[in-house]
Amino acid sequence: MSNTQPGSKTGAASPPNEFGAKILDLARQLARWSETADGLTCTYFSAAHKAAARQLCDWMRSAGLHAEIDAVGNVVGRYASDGAAKALIVGSHYDTVADAGLFDGRLGILTGLIVAEHLNRTGRKLPFHLDVIGFAEEEGVRFAAPYLGSSAIAGRFDDAILQRRDKDGVSVAALFQEAGVDRDAIRALGRPAGTLRGYLEIHIEQGPVLLERHLPVGVVTAIAGAARFRVTIRGVAGHAGTVPMPLRHDAAAAGAEIALAVERRCSGHGTLVGTVGQFAVPNGLINVIPGLCELSLDIRAGDNETRDAAIRDILAAAEAIASRRGVSIEIAEIGRHSAVPCAPPMRAALAAAVARAGIEPFHLASGAGHDAAIFAGLTDIGMLFVRCGNGGVSHSPLETITAGDADVAARILLDVVVNLP
Ligand code: GLV
Ligand code: MN
Ligand code: MN
Repeated sequence: MSNTQPGSKTGAASPPNEFGAKILDLARQLARWSETADGLTCTYFSAAHKAAARQLCDWMRSAGLHAEIDAVGNVVGRYASDGAAKALIVGSHYDTVADAGLFDGRLGILTGLIVAEHLNRTGRKLPFHLDVIGFAEEEGVRFAAPYLGSSAIAGRFDDAILQRRDKDGVSVAALFQEAGVDRDAIRALGRPAGTLRGYLEIHIEQGPVLLERHLPVGVVTAIAGAARFRVTIRGVAGHAGTVPMPLRHDAAAAGAEIALAVERRCSGHGTLVGTVGQFAVPNGLINVIPGLCELSLDIRAGDNETRDAAIRDILAAAEAIASRRGVSIEIAEIGRHSAVPCAPPMRAALAAAVARAGIEPFHLASGAGHDAAIFAGLTDIGMLFVRCGNGGVSHSPLETITAGDADVAARILLDVVVNLP
């Protein structure tokens, strides 16, 4: 694998897709830092995650930015304007799900990096600081605490997250204590609204809409709100060969019925979606009736009312299923984020730049959560989606984009940044 620096020349001046080819190359290089020998897994504060942060910080410095890794692991690189200027944040996350694709989150950081490098190399000054940020944690994989990095910078870090534990029982508080990070250090990362010019995020679409419309990019209208729950079902364990079917209190069968109820309630209602992504029978054995079942629940919609109505119905259905089957059920809510609209001025700025690139501006909603949502209400947020190949698959090693589409996205971001007053 090459060690290309973001600013390095590749030979001929401005080869086709110069920005896009660099972005794809850097994404491949960054994926070397993984918790697994095969594929890409990079979860919060693992050795691979810390190495990825150092790599991003090195690249930012090579690109001419003043870059640091902050107390919670965000990589913050500034292309500075005059001292008192506000800051435009261009960011996304570098943590990943397990066995991830190369572009979810990272595309947004690397596109910002390439644009900042270009501005620095060409000596183009901006009326605001350009802060390229790689957020440390967005996926919520290790601690079920999504948006940890962006919430610190938005001044919205929830101290309750400090008590969250990973699967080995290690708490966020313990990790921070080991790293010498206290609450004051986290609070100090918060940016007051008056210091921000806005927030922009380039992100792979993670769905098939742009692909089906033959469009390289689309302007995001709003980001769906998600609610997440952990469900614990306790039944009665027993011998798989001796307990007659009518006498069983099978925790996993109750869990399966709940998963089907989620699927049924969330089907056919527009943007409403519901997922049981984790389903465990702890200590389960082939010849034992499951006495315990744990499952996760993730419910989202383009508006809070639709989502919350579905949650009410699903929780009632789960209680009814448990009661009918004679099992106990505990449902713990572990997070709820509101659906947020993108700011009309940022949508307009992105759409104008898309049109100037000779592409029909197309507007679409995001079903996935994004760091951008954490900045809503604090500053104007805008998002640009980039076409996702392979039928739109993401959160998978099959996730893909083309250098041509990454190039288009980088040029649109550059256009927006230089034309934003
Ligand atoms: C983040 O990728 C999410 O939407 O779950
Ligand atoms: Mn993701
Ligand atoms: Mn993402």
